[in-house]
Amino acid sequence: MTIHIGARPGDIAETVLMPGDPYRARWAAERFLEAPRLVNEVRGMLGYTGTWRGHPVTFHGSGMGMPSLSIYANELIRDYGARRLIRIGSCGAMQAGVKLRDLILAMTASTLSTPSRGIFRELQFAPCADWGLLRAAASAAEAKGAPYHAGGIYSSDVFYDERPDLNDAMTRHGVLAVEMEAAELYTVAARHGASALAVLTVSDHLLTGEALSSEERETGFEAMVEVALEAAFA
Ligand code: ADE
Repeated sequence: MTIHIGARPGDIAETVLMPGDPYRARWAAERFLEAPRLVNEVRGMLGYTGTWRGHPVTFHGSGMGMPSLSIYANELIRDYGARRLIRIGSCGAMQAGVKLRDLILAMTASTLSTPSRGIFRELQFAPCADWGLLRAAASAAEAKGAPYHAGGIYSSDVFYDERPDLNDAMTRHGVLAVEMEAAELYTVAARHGASALAVLTVSDHLLTGEALSSEERETGFEAMVEVALEAAFA
């Protein structure tokens, strides 16, 4: 057990898919895993382990924002031996060519600051996805005909943004979408020699104001989880 995860040694698979929402971890485990079992519920942050096509997989919530994700990613990698961590979550589109429900495969994650910022001081570290996972996710999305975009995203610290000029700057620099966790996931994974990727579903659009209903979000999430699982075991 760690401070934030009550799982026993061996309870966590080397492949961990991390939605922000712990209830989504439960939904995904029940929907995609054979024999899922609850391995963590400390502070309501649910983690489930089972098998997918015979491969051990854990779905574990990250919570919202980089400080929360950082706690779970650190403990999952350092204390439980996770080696492949894939964020599955929603994002807000920042480009006209990106549509609601599209998948985003995050090659890089720009950010103002992550919990790891103190390590780098004046250096601007460039958090990036694992190439093997990214390539496999693109192939999986193509094979199922799921519309996807691979490119940079923006990991913001705020949902209710008082500085819309930052979003504008991201849009002008070709950034595909905004979310709140990937930059720290990529940084923590890099620090410990683990592989990471974020596979996201566009749930809202910053340029058009459109947003998916909660029912539509669920259908969109299925394609995202399938792409993440297929990428992990390609
Ligand atoms: N996640 C989903 N939509 C988002 C948005 N508009 N901003 C930040 N994170 C998000």
